[in-house]
Amino acid sequence: MSERTLVLVKPDGVSKGLIGEVISRIENKGLSLVALELRTVANDIAEEHYAEHKDKPFFGELLEFITSGPVVAAVVEGPRAIEGFRQLAGATDPIKAATGSIRGDYALEVQNNIVHGSDSPESAEREIKLWFPNLS
Ligand code: CMP
Repeated sequence: MSERTLVLVKPDGVSKGLIGEVISRIENKGLSLVALELRTVANDIAEEHYAEHKDKPFFGELLEFITSGPVVAAVVEGPRAIEGFRQLAGATDPIKAATGSIRGDYALEVQNNIVHGSDSPESAEREIKLWFPNLS
């Protein structure tokens, strides 16, 4: 059964020139893009996107980071798309992420970790509605 996930190439990934690399890895894995857009994130969308982290000490910094420059937002579809993309991304902390994963290959810091992928079917539904409200 096919499912959808929300993927972001964060400002650090965009400024490092990694948009093509991330998209290639998604396509090579056998997943499809059903929406794709370069966008600068408004503060209210960023706050809603990261609502579950609002009590964390790094919340303010995280909002500053994610709104600091353009991101690429994408809806990615395929069988096991949520877990499939999380495998491509690697662990949240790039030092713990396997070599060969996006974070393992291209990042060092936990905040500046190149990509975001929804972590569950519930998050995917919520995040896709937030970023692409008109997508059917
Ligand atoms: P992401 O998968 O987008 O989900 C939450 C984000 O918060 C995470 O990637 C990191 O960018 C960031 N994050 C998680 N833990 C920390 C931390 N300890 N310090 C700073 N940023 C963090």
